[in-house]
Amino acid sequence: MSAGETGRSTHLYPPSAEVVKKATISGMAAYQALCREAEQDYTGYWARLAKEHVSWQKPFTQVLDESNAPFYQWFADGRLNVSYNCLDRHVDAGLGGKVALIFEADDGQVTRVTYKDLLGRVARFANGLKARGIRKGDRVLIYMPMSVEGVVAMQACARIGAIHSVVFGGFSAKSVHERIRDAGTVAVITADEQYRGGKNLPLKSVVDESLALGGCDSVRTVIVYRRTGGTCAMVAGRDVPWEEVVAGQPEICEPEWVDAEHPLFLLYTSGSTGQPKGVQHSSGGYLLHAILTTKWTFDLKPDDVFWCTADIGWVTGHTYVAYGPLACGGTQIVFEGVPVYPDAGRFWRMIQDHKVSIFYTAPTAIRSLIKAAETTPAVHPSKYDLSSLRLLGSVGEPINPAAWEWYYEHIGGGRCPIVDTFWQTETGGHMITPLPGVTTLVPGSCTLPFPGIQAAVVDEAGHELEWGKSGILVVTKPWPSMIRTIWGDPERFKKSYFPQDFHGKLYLAGDGASRDAETGYFTITGRIDDVLNISGHRMGTMEIESALVSNPLVAEAAVVGRPDDVTGEAICAFVVLKRARPAAEEAKNIANDLRNWVAKEIGPIAKPKEIRFGDNLPKTRSGKIMRRLLRSLAKGEAITQDVSTLENPQILDQLKQAS
Ligand code: WTA
Repeated sequence: MSAGETGRSTHLYPPSAEVVKKATISGMAAYQALCREAEQDYTGYWARLAKEHVSWQKPFTQVLDESNAPFYQWFADGRLNVSYNCLDRHVDAGLGGKVALIFEADDGQVTRVTYKDLLGRVARFANGLKARGIRKGDRVLIYMPMSVEGVVAMQACARIGAIHSVVFGGFSAKSVHERIRDAGTVAVITADEQYRGGKNLPLKSVVDESLALGGCDSVRTVIVYRRTGGTCAMVAGRDVPWEEVVAGQPEICEPEWVDAEHPLFLLYTSGSTGQPKGVQHSSGGYLLHAILTTKWTFDLKPDDVFWCTADIGWVTGHTYVAYGPLACGGTQIVFEGVPVYPDAGRFWRMIQDHKVSIFYTAPTAIRSLIKAAETTPAVHPSKYDLSSLRLLGSVGEPINPAAWEWYYEHIGGGRCPIVDTFWQTETGGHMITPLPGVTTLVPGSCTLPFPGIQAAVVDEAGHELEWGKSGILVVTKPWPSMIRTIWGDPERFKKSYFPQDFHGKLYLAGDGASRDAETGYFTITGRIDDVLNISGHRMGTMEIESALVSNPLVAEAAVVGRPDDVTGEAICAFVVLKRARPAAEEAKNIANDLRNWVAKEIGPIAKPKEIRFGDNLPKTRSGKIMRRLLRSLAKGEAITQDVSTLENPQILDQLKQAS
């Protein structure tokens, strides 16, 4: 499917009367009332919600400061602590005994952590960080498995006002190195190894390798959580076991009260240049949106068991694991493993065992589990009791109607609304999404903006298009959880998100979209820049190209995406070697070596699915690579485009064939 363009179904799924009745935002009229409130008094709307849903140590008097646009500020003179909002306020309200986290390990072992326990663990670790000299504003890189400790590390940073930068455990030493240096990191929190799908995968040795790449003098401390007990080298004076950090530390740690604009975290993500960008989020505005979306999109209630399957290394694992559900006092699952271990029934078994009521995952996972269920009847969801579910969610990439319908029928039993949530690392939380008690669902459409969010589809000049036309997705007004800047590169922030083409006034999401001619529902048609979406993970084509050309064999490389049944998009690389074009077995071997090279440079998620070798790449007479032709070749389409500007048309035949 071409990312959503033809991916919308005409079936309508209105919410049942029962769902509407019980939902926090109940009925279309309630949704429209919120939208109207925001239209009539934009700042008043957000101020009301920020007062009602966030606990402030010092209340704010300013709401939105636009004086230095597009560096917008929200609630700037208010003070708060995010960890206080996630933990203390629930314990103070008598919910200390409530289970906050249900941790299920790769091997199936389950650990429950109450709010009181979690607060104690966060406080001890926070005290330990302070004892090691880590202070408010310091950058701390977290390279951890999915674990209670991963959440504790993030919350402890928030508690002392340190800025965390979580790096997904699948990224390479080089990627870790880049992120350590870009942020001027003072401490790294990691684990010896991680368990995933019955395998032990290294973490600490990757950190060691990244530090050995040089230029990381800012890193004074490396804290190592012992997960597997596998051997790992400890450098005296720098490396310290987690147990030692918390030893003797009290379970009380006064939160560091910070201004609402104090950065809560950086999260690196791919853009259209080779260099990942450190997306900077605030404390107050970010927290507000994490709370509102958890309460309204997921309709989280005190008795729910919530499960977001995302890793804490991605933004979804930030907003809907580490912050949103905790800030709302919810009970949630934290899962260490992978959906196919020990078998592809793992998710369904866990939903059954833990009586999960709200389940949030990515279309890629659904598509791969559909395949598994079709080939292995024993892991078909019908073999499990999924009756505890009441709401399903999807995130990260367009969900094709066939996968949507399967999810709806086989997982949701035809009774659970699916919230197809469109958002980005930069937006902090959901932007365009159904609300369960409001929206009539259309498979493949993320439907309507979250109340208060002003989204539009515009043309190249920034003029709003009439419904029914495809164009560029923008957000027309600043919102509380928006990206504040790119760490260390405010110019890139302005250029990437508030381009002059739109007079610096519109937030450019980087996605194309269209609105349904009748309902105004949004459908995302895919990225309009050189960013690919592989299994819901963002990857810049330039990053992969730079990795490829850094291999001594490679002269030139161009990377494009092509549709893939399971991963949404797959990476296809066209490579010119410094030596003659290889064929047959040799081509296979070199392609394999190059794939592993990319895994080592960036991480296994960036491995091209296919590599094709050519004597050259299709170029214009001025030497520009014609990527649209490569995209057609990768898809296996006949070339119907105009190739008159192509300098070397014969190259197309060569690149047509997979090597
Ligand atoms: C894509 C993940 C269609 C989109 C939260 C966006 C989606 C990018 C959806 C952000 C959705 C995310 N439907 N496309 N429901 N959700 N996307 O930063 O292209 O990892 O720009 O944030 O994923 O990816 P990111």
